[in-house]
Amino acid sequence: MADEGKLVLEALAGRRPSATPIWLMRQAGRYLPEYRAVRTKAGSFLDLCYNPDLATEVTLQPIRRFGFDAAILFSDILVVPHAFGQNVWFAEGEGPRLDPIADRDGLSRIAGTIDLERLEPVFETLRRLRRELPRPVTLLGFCGAPFTVASYMVAGKGTPDQAPIRLLAYRDPEFVAALIDRLVEGSIAYLSQQIEAGAEAVQIFESFAGALPPALLPRWSVEPVRRIAEGVRQRHPGARIIVFAKGAGARLADYAGFADALGIDWASDPAEADGIVPPGLAVQGNLDPLALIAGGEAMETGIDAALTGFAGRPHIFNLGHGIRPETPIAHVERLVQRVREARA
Ligand code: CP3
Repeated sequence: MADEGKLVLEALAGRRPSATPIWLMRQAGRYLPEYRAVRTKAGSFLDLCYNPDLATEVTLQPIRRFGFDAAILFSDILVVPHAFGQNVWFAEGEGPRLDPIADRDGLSRIAGTIDLERLEPVFETLRRLRRELPRPVTLLGFCGAPFTVASYMVAGKGTPDQAPIRLLAYRDPEFVAALIDRLVEGSIAYLSQQIEAGAEAVQIFESFAGALPPALLPRWSVEPVRRIAEGVRQRHPGARIIVFAKGAGARLADYAGFADALGIDWASDPAEADGIVPPGLAVQGNLDPLALIAGGEAMETGIDAALTGFAGRPHIFNLGHGIRPETPIAHVERLVQRVREARA
Protein backbone atom coordinates (compact mmCIF):
# COMPACT_ATOMS: atom_id res chain seq x y z
CA MET A 1 0.00 0.00 0.00
CA ALA A 2 1.31 3.47 -0.92
CA ASP A 3 0.66 4.85 2.54
CA GLU A 4 2.18 1.95 4.44
CA GLY A 5 4.42 3.23 7.22
CA LYS A 6 3.22 6.80 6.69
CA LEU A 7 1.38 7.59 9.91
CA VAL A 8 -0.30 10.75 8.63
CA LEU A 9 -1.68 8.99 5.53
CA GLU A 10 -2.88 6.11 7.67
CA ALA A 11 -4.85 8.50 9.85
CA LEU A 12 -6.28 10.25 6.77
CA ALA A 13 -7.42 6.86 5.46
CA GLY A 14 -9.49 6.53 8.63
CA ARG A 15 -7.28 3.92 10.27
CA ARG A 16 -5.95 4.35 13.81
CA PRO A 17 -2.22 4.67 13.19
CA SER A 18 0.09 2.44 15.23
CA ALA A 19 1.35 5.67 16.81
CA THR A 20 0.06 9.28 16.94
CA PRO A 21 1.74 11.32 14.19
CA ILE A 22 2.72 14.94 14.79
CA TRP A 23 3.47 18.03 12.72
CA LEU A 24 2.85 21.72 13.49
CA MET A 25 1.15 24.39 11.45
CA ARG A 26 3.75 27.01 10.42
CA GLN A 27 6.50 24.61 11.52
CA ALA A 28 8.92 26.36 9.16
CA GLY A 29 9.31 29.90 10.41
CA ARG A 30 10.85 32.58 12.50
CA TYR A 31 11.14 30.61 15.76
CA LEU A 32 13.99 28.71 14.02
CA PRO A 33 17.38 30.45 13.74
CA GLU A 34 18.15 28.43 10.59
CA TYR A 35 14.95 29.80 9.01
CA ARG A 36 15.88 33.38 9.90
CA ALA A 37 19.29 32.89 8.29
CA VAL A 38 17.79 31.70 5.00
CA ARG A 39 15.07 34.37 5.15
CA THR A 40 17.72 37.12 5.37
CA LYS A 41 19.53 35.66 2.37
CA ALA A 42 16.36 35.34 0.27
CA GLY A 43 15.38 39.00 0.12
CA SER A 44 11.63 39.37 0.37
CA PHE A 45 9.28 36.75 1.79
CA LEU A 46 7.73 36.12 -1.64
CA ASP A 47 11.23 35.71 -3.14
CA LEU A 48 11.69 32.91 -0.62
CA CYS A 49 8.36 31.30 -1.57
CA TYR A 50 9.32 31.37 -5.28
CA ASN A 51 12.90 30.07 -4.85
CA PRO A 52 12.77 26.23 -5.06
CA ASP A 53 16.29 25.83 -3.56
CA LEU A 54 15.54 27.94 -0.51
CA ALA A 55 11.87 26.93 -0.13
CA THR A 56 12.93 23.26 -0.16
CA GLU A 57 15.59 23.99 2.43
CA VAL A 58 13.27 25.78 4.87
CA THR A 59 10.59 23.09 4.46
CA LEU A 60 13.18 20.46 5.46
CA GLN A 61 14.61 22.38 8.42
CA PRO A 62 11.93 21.43 10.97
CA ILE A 63 11.94 17.83 9.71
CA ARG A 64 15.69 17.54 10.35
CA ARG A 65 15.48 19.21 13.73
CA PHE A 66 12.37 17.55 15.19
CA GLY A 67 11.60 14.53 12.98
CA PHE A 68 7.98 15.54 12.34
CA ASP A 69 5.75 13.05 10.51
CA ALA A 70 4.66 15.56 7.85
CA ALA A 71 6.39 18.32 5.93
CA ILE A 72 4.22 21.21 4.74
CA LEU A 73 5.24 22.97 1.56
CA PHE A 74 6.82 26.33 2.34
CA SER A 75 4.69 28.95 0.61
CA ASP A 76 1.77 31.19 1.54
CA ILE A 77 -1.97 31.31 0.92
CA LEU A 78 -1.50 34.72 -0.75
CA VAL A 79 0.41 33.34 -3.75
CA VAL A 80 -3.06 32.59 -5.17
CA PRO A 81 -4.17 36.25 -5.46
CA HIS A 82 -0.68 36.93 -6.82
CA ALA A 83 -1.23 34.28 -9.53
CA PHE A 84 -4.51 36.04 -10.41
CA GLY A 85 -2.46 39.18 -11.10
CA GLN A 86 -3.20 41.07 -7.88
CA ASN A 87 -0.29 43.03 -6.45
CA VAL A 88 0.86 41.27 -3.23
CA TRP A 89 3.78 42.14 -0.99
CA PHE A 90 4.89 41.60 2.60
CA ALA A 91 5.74 44.77 4.45
CA GLU A 92 8.61 44.02 6.87
CA GLY A 93 7.19 43.57 10.36
CA GLU A 94 3.66 44.45 9.24
CA GLY A 95 2.40 41.37 7.42
CA PRO A 96 0.78 41.01 4.02
CA ARG A 97 -0.33 43.90 1.81
CA LEU A 98 -2.38 43.79 -1.41
CA ASP A 99 -3.90 46.40 -3.72
CA PRO A 100 -7.50 46.03 -2.50
CA ILE A 101 -10.27 44.77 -4.77
CA ALA A 102 -13.55 46.07 -3.42
CA ASP A 103 -15.95 46.07 -6.37
CA ARG A 104 -16.57 44.72 -9.84
CA ASP A 105 -14.15 47.22 -11.33
CA GLY A 106 -11.44 45.78 -9.12
CA LEU A 107 -12.42 42.29 -10.18
CA SER A 108 -11.97 43.23 -13.84
CA ARG A 109 -8.38 44.23 -13.07
CA ILE A 110 -7.40 40.67 -12.12
CA ALA A 111 -7.37 37.63 -14.39
CA GLY A 112 -10.44 35.46 -14.92
CA THR A 113 -8.42 32.31 -14.31
CA ILE A 114 -5.36 31.51 -12.23
CA ASP A 115 -1.98 31.66 -14.00
CA LEU A 116 -0.36 28.41 -12.86
CA GLU A 117 2.81 29.28 -14.79
CA ARG A 118 3.50 31.88 -12.17
CA LEU A 119 3.36 29.18 -9.51
CA GLU A 120 5.77 26.85 -11.31
CA PRO A 121 8.50 27.41 -8.64
CA VAL A 122 6.04 26.12 -6.02
CA PHE A 123 5.46 22.92 -8.01
CA GLU A 124 9.22 22.54 -8.49
CA THR A 125 9.66 22.83 -4.71
CA LEU A 126 7.16 19.98 -4.23
CA ARG A 127 8.94 17.78 -6.79
CA ARG A 128 12.25 18.30 -4.98
CA LEU A 129 10.74 17.68 -1.57
CA ARG A 130 9.21 14.46 -2.73
CA ARG A 131 12.67 13.28 -3.76
CA GLU A 132 14.46 14.50 -0.65
CA LEU A 133 12.10 13.70 2.20
CA PRO A 134 12.68 10.62 4.33
CA ARG A 135 10.25 7.89 3.25
CA PRO A 136 7.88 7.92 6.28
CA VAL A 137 7.34 11.70 6.13
CA THR A 138 4.11 12.77 4.41
CA LEU A 139 4.34 15.74 2.05
CA LEU A 140 1.50 18.23 2.46
CA GLY A 141 0.39 20.90 0.03
CA PHE A 142 -2.14 23.58 0.91
CA CYS A 143 -4.18 26.59 -0.09
CA GLY A 144 -6.34 29.11 1.72
CA ALA A 145 -10.11 28.70 1.60
CA PRO A 146 -11.85 31.24 -0.66
CA PHE A 147 -13.41 33.32 2.14
CA THR A 148 -10.08 33.64 4.00
CA VAL A 149 -8.14 34.53 0.84
CA ALA A 150 -10.89 36.89 -0.34
CA SER A 151 -10.81 38.72 3.01
CA TYR A 152 -7.19 39.71 2.29
CA MET A 153 -7.95 40.53 -1.35
CA VAL A 154 -10.78 42.87 -0.37
CA ALA A 155 -9.15 44.60 2.62
CA GLY A 156 -5.62 44.63 1.18
CA LYS A 157 -4.28 43.47 4.55
CA GLY A 158 -5.16 41.47 7.64
CA THR A 159 -8.05 42.99 9.62
CA PRO A 160 -9.06 42.19 13.22
CA ASP A 161 -12.55 40.87 12.43
CA GLN A 162 -12.61 40.70 8.62
CA ALA A 163 -15.16 43.54 8.64
CA PRO A 164 -14.54 44.70 5.03
CA ILE A 165 -15.51 41.40 3.40
CA ARG A 166 -18.34 40.74 5.86
CA LEU A 167 -19.87 44.12 5.09
CA LEU A 168 -19.49 43.51 1.36
CA ALA A 169 -21.12 40.10 1.71
CA TYR A 170 -24.25 41.92 2.99
CA ARG A 171 -24.12 44.88 0.62
CA ASP A 172 -22.99 43.26 -2.58
CA PRO A 173 -23.29 39.47 -2.31
CA GLU A 174 -23.09 39.07 -6.11
CA PHE A 175 -19.64 40.63 -6.12
CA VAL A 176 -18.43 38.47 -3.25
CA ALA A 177 -19.90 35.38 -4.94
CA ALA A 178 -18.08 36.22 -8.19
CA LEU A 179 -14.78 36.62 -6.34
CA ILE A 180 -15.28 33.39 -4.38
CA ASP A 181 -16.23 31.48 -7.57
CA ARG A 182 -12.99 32.55 -9.16
CA LEU A 183 -11.03 31.42 -6.13
CA VAL A 184 -12.84 28.06 -6.05
CA GLU A 185 -11.85 27.34 -9.66
CA GLY A 186 -8.29 28.63 -9.13
CA SER A 187 -7.86 26.59 -5.94
CA ILE A 188 -9.04 23.38 -7.65
CA ALA A 189 -6.46 23.89 -10.41
CA TYR A 190 -3.74 24.87 -7.93
CA LEU A 191 -4.27 21.96 -5.51
CA SER A 192 -4.59 19.47 -8.38
CA GLN A 193 -1.26 20.58 -9.75
CA GLN A 194 0.29 20.35 -6.25
CA ILE A 195 -0.85 16.73 -6.10
CA GLU A 196 0.61 16.08 -9.56
CA ALA A 197 3.91 17.58 -8.34
CA GLY A 198 4.04 15.22 -5.35
CA ALA A 199 1.80 16.47 -2.53
CA GLU A 200 0.37 13.38 -0.80
CA ALA A 201 -2.39 15.29 0.99
CA VAL A 202 -3.52 18.91 0.98
CA GLN A 203 -4.83 21.19 3.70
CA ILE A 204 -7.37 23.95 3.12
CA PHE A 205 -6.89 26.80 5.63
CA GLU A 206 -10.14 28.57 6.51
CA SER A 207 -8.53 30.73 9.17
CA PHE A 208 -11.52 33.07 9.42
CA ALA A 209 -14.47 30.67 9.63
CA GLY A 210 -15.08 32.19 13.08
CA ALA A 211 -15.66 35.63 11.55
CA LEU A 212 -18.85 34.44 9.81
CA PRO A 213 -22.19 34.40 11.64
CA PRO A 214 -23.51 30.80 11.59
CA ALA A 215 -26.26 31.66 9.09
CA LEU A 216 -23.65 32.84 6.57
CA LEU A 217 -21.15 30.04 7.08
CA PRO A 218 -22.70 27.61 4.56
CA ARG A 219 -22.71 30.04 1.64
CA TRP A 220 -19.33 31.71 2.14
CA SER A 221 -17.29 28.94 3.67
CA VAL A 222 -18.71 25.40 3.73
CA GLU A 223 -19.97 25.39 0.13
CA PRO A 224 -16.83 26.88 -1.46
CA VAL A 225 -14.62 24.45 0.48
CA ARG A 226 -16.89 21.54 -0.51
CA ARG A 227 -16.68 22.57 -4.18
CA ILE A 228 -12.87 22.66 -3.98
CA ALA A 229 -12.72 19.23 -2.34
CA GLU A 230 -15.07 17.75 -4.93
CA GLY A 231 -13.29 19.44 -7.83
CA VAL A 232 -9.92 18.14 -6.69
CA ARG A 233 -11.31 14.61 -6.24
CA GLN A 234 -12.83 14.71 -9.71
CA ARG A 235 -9.30 15.03 -11.05
CA HIS A 236 -7.62 12.93 -8.36
CA PRO A 237 -10.14 10.47 -6.94
CA GLY A 238 -7.92 9.35 -4.06
CA ALA A 239 -6.91 12.86 -2.98
CA ARG A 240 -6.59 13.30 0.80
CA ILE A 241 -7.93 16.60 2.11
CA ILE A 242 -7.61 18.18 5.57
CA VAL A 243 -9.96 21.08 6.34
CA PHE A 244 -8.92 23.55 9.07
CA ALA A 245 -11.91 25.81 9.70
CA LYS A 246 -10.73 27.97 12.58
CA GLY A 247 -13.54 29.24 14.78
CA ALA A 248 -16.24 27.02 13.23
CA GLY A 249 -16.97 25.68 16.73
CA ALA A 250 -20.17 23.65 16.82
CA ARG A 251 -20.49 23.99 13.01
CA LEU A 252 -17.31 22.00 12.45
CA ALA A 253 -19.28 18.94 11.43
CA ASP A 254 -20.67 20.89 8.44
CA TYR A 255 -17.28 20.25 6.77
CA ALA A 256 -17.15 16.57 7.67
CA GLY A 257 -18.81 15.16 4.54
CA PHE A 258 -15.94 16.07 2.24
CA ALA A 259 -12.85 16.10 4.51
CA ASP A 260 -10.50 13.22 5.34
CA ALA A 261 -9.58 15.06 8.54
CA LEU A 262 -10.87 18.11 10.38
CA GLY A 263 -8.46 20.53 11.99
CA ILE A 264 -9.51 21.44 15.54
CA ASP A 265 -8.55 24.92 16.73
CA TRP A 266 -7.25 25.84 20.19
CA ALA A 267 -10.57 27.36 21.28
CA SER A 268 -12.24 23.93 21.15
CA ASP A 269 -12.26 21.55 24.08
CA PRO A 270 -10.89 18.24 22.72
CA ALA A 271 -13.52 16.05 24.39
CA GLU A 272 -16.32 18.35 23.16
CA ALA A 273 -14.91 18.51 19.63
CA ASP A 274 -14.67 14.73 19.68
CA GLY A 275 -18.41 14.64 20.36
CA ILE A 276 -19.16 16.90 17.36
CA VAL A 277 -17.01 15.20 14.71
CA PRO A 278 -18.61 12.06 13.18
CA PRO A 279 -17.21 8.81 14.62
CA GLY A 280 -14.19 7.41 12.82
CA LEU A 281 -13.27 10.64 11.03
CA ALA A 282 -9.67 11.75 11.63
CA VAL A 283 -8.96 14.98 13.52
CA GLN A 284 -5.88 17.17 13.69
CA GLY A 285 -4.96 19.42 16.61
CA ASN A 286 -5.23 21.16 18.96
CA LEU A 287 -2.66 22.35 21.53
CA ASP A 288 -2.90 26.11 22.15
CA PRO A 289 0.20 27.73 20.56
CA LEU A 290 0.43 29.87 23.71
CA ALA A 291 0.62 26.77 25.93
CA LEU A 292 3.59 25.71 23.79
CA ILE A 293 5.24 29.07 24.46
CA ALA A 294 4.54 28.80 28.20
CA GLY A 295 5.73 25.19 28.48
CA GLY A 296 5.68 23.36 31.83
CA GLU A 297 2.39 22.37 33.43
CA ALA A 298 0.26 24.34 30.98
CA MET A 299 1.76 22.53 28.06
CA GLU A 300 1.70 19.05 29.62
CA THR A 301 -1.97 19.46 30.56
CA GLY A 302 -2.84 20.65 27.06
CA ILE A 303 -1.00 17.77 25.40
CA ASP A 304 -2.72 15.21 27.63
CA ALA A 305 -6.15 16.75 26.99
CA ALA A 306 -5.70 16.41 23.22
CA LEU A 307 -4.25 12.89 23.41
CA THR A 308 -7.05 11.74 25.72
CA GLY A 309 -9.88 13.61 24.04
CA PHE A 310 -9.08 12.20 20.60
CA ALA A 311 -7.94 8.73 21.71
CA GLY A 312 -10.99 7.03 20.19
CA ARG A 313 -10.36 8.04 16.58
CA PRO A 314 -7.47 8.62 14.14
CA HIS A 315 -5.61 11.65 15.54
CA ILE A 316 -2.84 13.72 13.98
CA PHE A 317 -1.26 15.80 16.74
CA ASN A 318 -0.87 19.48 15.89
CA LEU A 319 -1.34 22.92 17.37
CA GLY A 320 -4.72 24.63 17.34
CA HIS A 321 -3.23 27.35 15.07
CA GLY A 322 0.23 28.24 13.74
CA ILE A 323 3.35 28.22 15.90
CA ARG A 324 4.49 31.71 16.92
CA PRO A 325 7.92 33.26 16.43
CA GLU A 326 8.57 33.58 20.19
CA THR A 327 8.18 29.81 20.81
CA PRO A 328 11.19 28.26 22.63
CA ILE A 329 12.73 25.43 20.62
CA ALA A 330 13.17 23.37 23.81
CA HIS A 331 9.38 23.35 24.26
CA VAL A 332 8.86 21.98 20.75
CA GLU A 333 11.42 19.26 21.50
CA ARG A 334 9.55 18.39 24.69
CA LEU A 335 6.20 18.30 22.86
CA VAL A 336 7.50 15.86 20.25
CA GLN A 337 9.08 13.69 22.97
CA ARG A 338 5.81 13.66 24.94
CA VAL A 339 3.68 12.65 21.94
CA ARG A 340 6.22 9.94 21.05
CA GLU A 341 6.21 8.60 24.64
CA ALA A 342 2.45 8.32 24.47
CA ARG A 343 2.92 5.98 21.53
CA ALA A 344 4.59 3.32 23.62
O1 CP3 B 1 3.09 25.99 7.87
C1 CP3 B 1 4.18 26.13 7.27
O2 CP3 B 1 5.28 26.00 7.81
C2 CP3 B 1 4.11 26.37 5.78
C3 CP3 B 1 4.10 27.72 5.33
C4 CP3 B 1 2.93 28.65 5.59
C5 CP3 B 1 3.14 30.05 5.76
N1 CP3 B 1 1.92 30.65 5.78
C6 CP3 B 1 4.46 30.68 5.86
C7 CP3 B 1 4.58 32.07 6.34
C8 CP3 B 1 1.54 28.44 5.59
C9 CP3 B 1 0.79 27.14 5.50
C10 CP3 B 1 0.93 29.73 5.70
C11 CP3 B 1 -0.54 29.91 5.69
C12 CP3 B 1 -1.09 31.25 5.90
N2 CP3 B 1 -0.59 32.46 5.51
C13 CP3 B 1 -2.35 31.49 6.51
C14 CP3 B 1 -3.31 30.43 7.02
C15 CP3 B 1 -2.89 29.89 8.33
C16 CP3 B 1 -3.07 30.84 9.47
O3 CP3 B 1 -2.04 31.17 10.09
O4 CP3 B 1 -4.19 31.23 9.78
C17 CP3 B 1 -2.55 32.89 6.53
C18 CP3 B 1 -3.77 33.60 7.11
C19 CP3 B 1 -1.44 33.48 5.87
C20 CP3 B 1 -1.22 34.93 5.58
C21 CP3 B 1 0.01 35.42 6.19
N3 CP3 B 1 1.29 35.13 5.76
C22 CP3 B 1 0.14 36.31 7.29
C23 CP3 B 1 -1.02 36.88 8.07
C24 CP3 B 1 1.50 36.53 7.50
C25 CP3 B 1 2.13 37.49 8.48
C26 CP3 B 1 2.11 36.94 9.85
C27 CP3 B 1 3.51 36.65 10.29
O5 CP3 B 1 3.69 35.64 10.99
O6 CP3 B 1 4.40 37.44 9.94
C28 CP3 B 1 2.21 35.74 6.57
C29 CP3 B 1 3.68 35.63 6.44
C30 CP3 B 1 4.25 34.26 6.61
N4 CP3 B 1 3.76 33.12 6.03
C31 CP3 B 1 5.44 33.94 7.32
C32 CP3 B 1 5.64 32.56 7.15
C33 CP3 B 1 6.80 31.75 7.66
C34 CP3 B 1 6.34 34.93 8.07
C35 CP3 B 1 7.04 35.78 7.07
C36 CP3 B 1 8.48 36.09 7.40
O7 CP3 B 1 9.31 35.17 7.44
O8 CP3 B 1 8.77 37.27 7.57
